[in-house]
Amino acid sequence: MQSKPGKFITFEGPDGSGKTAQMDILAEQLIQEGYPILTTREPGGTSIGDQIRETLLDLKNTAMVDRTEALLYQAARAQLVDEIIKPHLAEGGIVLCDRYADSTLAYQGYGHKNTVESLRGIIHYATGGLTPDLTVLLDLEPEVGLQRRLDAGGLNRLDAYDIDFHHRVRAGYLELVKADPDRWIIVDAGRSFEEVQAELWKILLEWLKACGQ
Ligand code: TYD
Repeated sequence: MQSKPGKFITFEGPDGSGKTAQMDILAEQLIQEGYPILTTREPGGTSIGDQIRETLLDLKNTAMVDRTEALLYQAARAQLVDEIIKPHLAEGGIVLCDRYADSTLAYQGYGHKNTVESLRGIIHYATGGLTPDLTVLLDLEPEVGLQRRLDAGGLNRLDAYDIDFHHRVRAGYLELVKADPDRWIIVDAGRSFEEVQAELWKILLEWLKACGQ
């Protein structure tokens, strides 16, 4: 019998949108339903990727130029794709990934005002062309997201960019959705954690059933 093809689902959104916590709960629920779920995150998810993550997010690395930042994200991503994501998909599994290539387009592209097209080439090199089957955008006003991060006491080097940067990131995400609407689902992350969680659960189950999973 032919096994089901793997599914690659990514979660995107501004800092403080609750992506990580929501994705973890969703993964647990899906595992309980019997789905073959693997969760991972970017940057990181591998030993080499976690070392790159430390460099990328360290508040003391204020000298980092935009191109270094963009390339380090791709280095971590290449490792994650080959070491973790592709093997699980090849076994027919479902991968839930906290951020992926769209974060590069939103942050290093729209955020830093670099042309998105110039980044697509290095993303393709890093991923070998692996694109998500579904991407969920947890959309949120940047001010709300940053306040949540401040309350949690965990600002990273990118959170510390000015508020205009974060507005460009958000607008960038919305542009990416417009350009490829079939791959994206937008969820309003400004509501209570429980409301967002309930909507995510409904969306994911419906989507998986629609793909015959
Ligand atoms: P993290 O602490 O994991 O934040 P979050 O919980 O919001 O995902 O930090 C990841 C940071 O890296 C976040 O500020 C977004 C940024 N980032 C990019 O700028 N480009 C990328 O390609 C990726 C994957 C992340």
